[in-house]
Amino acid sequence: MVIFGATGDLTKRKLFPALYNLAKDGFLPENFAVIAVGRQELETDDFRHQIIADLKEFIETPDKKLIEWFEERTYYTGGDFDDDKKLFTDIKDLLREVCQKHDIPENFFYYLATPPQLFANVAGKIHKNGLSKEEEGHWRRFIFEKPFGRDIESAKKLNRELGKILNERQIYRIDHYLGKETVQNILVFRFGNSIFEPIWNRNFIDHVQITVSEELGVETRGGYYDKAGALRDMIPNHIFQLITLTAMEPPVSFEADAVRDEQSKILHAIQPFAPEDVLHNAVRGQYGAGEIEEKKSAAYRSEQSVALQSNTETFAALKLSIDNWRWADVPFYIRTGKRLPAKRTDVTIQFKKAPLMLFRGTSVEKLTTNRLVIHVQPNEGITLHFGAKIPGPIVNMGTVDMDFDYVDHFGEQISTGYERLLYDCMTGDATLFQRADMVEASWQVVSPILDVWQAIPARDFPNYEAGTWGPADADELLAKDGRKWRNTIEVIEK
Ligand code: BG6
Repeated sequence: MVIFGATGDLTKRKLFPALYNLAKDGFLPENFAVIAVGRQELETDDFRHQIIADLKEFIETPDKKLIEWFEERTYYTGGDFDDDKKLFTDIKDLLREVCQKHDIPENFFYYLATPPQLFANVAGKIHKNGLSKEEEGHWRRFIFEKPFGRDIESAKKLNRELGKILNERQIYRIDHYLGKETVQNILVFRFGNSIFEPIWNRNFIDHVQITVSEELGVETRGGYYDKAGALRDMIPNHIFQLITLTAMEPPVSFEADAVRDEQSKILHAIQPFAPEDVLHNAVRGQYGAGEIEEKKSAAYRSEQSVALQSNTETFAALKLSIDNWRWADVPFYIRTGKRLPAKRTDVTIQFKKAPLMLFRGTSVEKLTTNRLVIHVQPNEGITLHFGAKIPGPIVNMGTVDMDFDYVDHFGEQISTGYERLLYDCMTGDATLFQRADMVEASWQVVSPILDVWQAIPARDFPNYEAGTWGPADADELLAKDGRKWRNTIEVIEK
């Protein structure tokens, strides 16, 4: 594995801990090694020292033997990514040396954890130096971190550039949400059971809500985030993955392209907004100062590396329509934001009310209808809410839950979310990675919104206090359809 951008946060927080977990569970072969590549000129020993110290911080109960195993298999080389020759010749030499030393059969995968503007350039140089060619049965694969493009034009351009030097089957566009167990479980839940699928459509479902909320602000990432914003950062990637898995038709098999064909159809069925739709069906917000868990929290505009008059949104909510037979007239409400009251990702399937209110006139009428909630994080599980009679001589109904909790049933799984994805790349399974057409279809939906938001700067920013559920307009988005976000109809049950 060759990691470009290896001195960054991702390598220490996610990639190395994920490799460690894979090795611990016996999923890494003996003949495996990592070459870390960064701009800094460091000795391998210095890099090893640092990464092992980080590893000990990010994993629980590190195993001494395993740590040593990693140390022996980690190498570093540094230099200028723009330099056509030197760095890439060094990498080539090091690959040869490492393969000999660890008896590695020259299968390489390159992880581009660099800023996205370097993707095409670095891949091009790998190619130019003969390191992308698959010869004598050896494979060469490339993982690209998000964001893949910043709008439809740049995503298409990047796909075109990569397409000139690589085969699509060598390209793995990663989205770490697909590495989450509960996200993968959406497919098993839907297609491994027979009782849900018959009601998973417009005849029974009133609407779907997806919330991805975070308590965190932008921390040290202001430089990136201020140019990206909540919509680009979370929606065409993470949230669209949740939508496709929730909404797709059953695939004909679990082969990568069979699954991705169905996901792609959903992305193409999401209706792009005309400019006037943006005004009605999209809401943006930016946090001002506030309080989270009794701690004072600064306004977005006073965060590090954020412009003082920044117009970047830290909250976005959309009402989407999926125009196909299954989902016509079933709105998908999605929202994401920073500095909200809780870290929570969930998908709520709100079923229609019973056709006849037999209990009219009692408190029953006020009850919300059946709801299925897929809790992606932090407390992974699934809850089905339904009405039940409260014992007593008068008819009084309350809502009760049937609850499945991952940890209760399967015990705690220690995972960064990257394990499965790295493993799949090594074994050549691209099911959980995005294809070129999927990325483009996602930007196709999002780009018109970005255009309108850029053309008409928000006049009311900041428009929500840190520690609240976003701007009032986000509630209004549902209220005008006679609906409410789940957190406002019940105490968050997880
Ligand atoms: C990243 C975004 O892709 O996902 C971050 O760039 C965000 O802004 C993060 O915080 C959320 O991931 P998770 O796994 O913590 O929900």
